[in-house]
Parts: sequence; C-alpha cells; structure tokens
Amino acid sequence: MLSARGFSAGWHRGVAAVAEVDLELVPGRALAVLGRNGAGKTTLAKGLLGLTPWRRGIVQLDGARIENWRPERIARAGVAFVPQGRGVFPGLTVEENVRLGALGSGRRRADSALLARFPALIERRDRPAETLSGGEQRQLSILRALAGRPRFLLLDEPSEGVQPTVVDAIADLLIELVEVDQLGILMIEQDLDLVARVAHECLVLEDGRPVDRFAAKELAAGPQRVERYLGL
Ligand SMILES: Nc1ncnc2c1ncn2[C@@H]1O[C@H](COP(=O)(O)OP(=O)(O)OP(=O)(O)O)[C@@H](O)[C@H]1O
Ligand SMILES: [Mg+2]
Repeated sequence: MLSARGFSAGWHRGVAAVAEVDLELVPGRALAVLGRNGAGKTTLAKGLLGLTPWRRGIVQLDGARIENWRPERIARAGVAFVPQGRGVFPGLTVEENVRLGALGSGRRRADSALLARFPALIERRDRPAETLSGGEQRQLSILRALAGRPRFLLLDEPSEGVQPTVVDAIADLLIELVEVDQLGILMIEQDLDLVARVAHECLVLEDGRPVDRFAAKELAAGPQRVERYLGL
C-alpha cells in the first residue's frame, strides 16, 4: 500500500500549494483526484513522487517511510508516473522511450507481454515519438511508465487533449491494470465519465485542501456531486 497522512507539498506564495492530504493507494483499486485548474492536483502527485522540493507529512510504501526518498528511489521501489501533457521524449523513437522507462526503474527492458498490449505502438517502434498522434503519445507515455513493472501508477490527466476513441482505449487499459494486474492507481482526471468507469473512490481538492471524498459510482448518475467544486 502507498499511503499519505497529513501530506503537504509545493510552497507557493508563502503557503503550501497542497496541504493536509490523507490518501491510500491499494492494489486493485483506483483513486481519482478531482479539482479545478490550479487546485493542486499535479503538486500532490509530484509531491508523493518526491518531485517537489518542499514536502511535509508522512508517506509510506508497504510500511516504509518514503517521504524523504529521492524520486529515483521511489521509482525503483515500484511507483511510476505518467506526467501531464504528452510525457514522451519527442526526438527519441518509441522503442527508446520504452527502454528509458524500464531503465528508470532499474530494469533492462520491458517484457514482451506488456508490449503486446500496445500493438499499434510496437508496429512503429523505430519512429520518433513526435511522429505519433497526440493520443498515441499519451499511450506511449503510459507504456513507458509501465515498462518498469510498477505496482503503483500515478497518472496526471491521461485523457487531456486525447480523442474519444483513444480515451476509451485508455479506460480499458486502466481497468485491466487495476483488475488483472492489481495495480494501485491514482488518476488525476477532469473527464468524469472516465473517472466513473475506472475509479473506485474520488478525492476532491480545492485550493490545495481536501474538501470531499466519495465513491466514484456516484458520478455514473451525473456530475451533481462535484458541480460546485469544478464550476460545472
Ligand atoms: N512551478 C511552480 N511555481 C510556482 N507556483 C506553482 C508552480 N506549479 C504550480 N504552482 C501553483 O501551485 C498551485 C497548484 O498548481 P497545480 O499545478 O498543482 O494545480 P493543478 O490542480 O494540477 O492544475 P491544472 O488542472 O491546471 O493542471 C497553483 O496555485 C499554481 O499556480
Ligand atoms: Mg495539473
């Protein structure tokens, strides 16, 4: 389990950009983090990963305190990140991007069963990543994160700027990663349909503070629960 207690991160204009967050990532479960632009979602993910210089509180990975670990060590311990945006090295080939993902977690290469889940990308393994569509680059970013065989995966807005058919494919993949591979997922996401499909629980941030938590299935009936937080 990856858990945080009283977690704060990202010093911004004299206050913590994210403060007093409690959360748990459990194998086989997906937690969605919701909130408006600037609510602190990215800062929360980067803080958990050791990618923000200022952090407070307790973060535990399978019982070990990791809040002061460097990002490389957290990655090697099995926590991977799919950053906001396209998240690939544009000038490197598909294969080189995947290999870097594996190396970042201390593995020599991605395993073939994983690659087989991305046939369209593997067909173009020798092409520079920048020649892929936006949605394919997003999928490559996810494949790169998975290449290190993580147990926990943090994704920052995987559907952003991606066409609906690719969002569907990403949803199917995330569901499989949770249900079959038993990954624990933290998914920052604005697409509430995607959240309702993939996530179990939702955590809402407002001005960097947790303001609501609820079961993701509540979103299946509509966005009422989050309208006031997201300004819908
Ligand atoms: N590099 C930075 N330097 C200074 N302030 C920053 C930096 N990154 C973020 N912030 C500030 O921290 C707060 C939280 O930003 P963050 O990027 O975590 O929000 P977010 O919820 O991910 O937003 P979005 O939906 O736009 O991605 C905001 O007030 C933002 O202006
Ligand atoms: Mg963000």
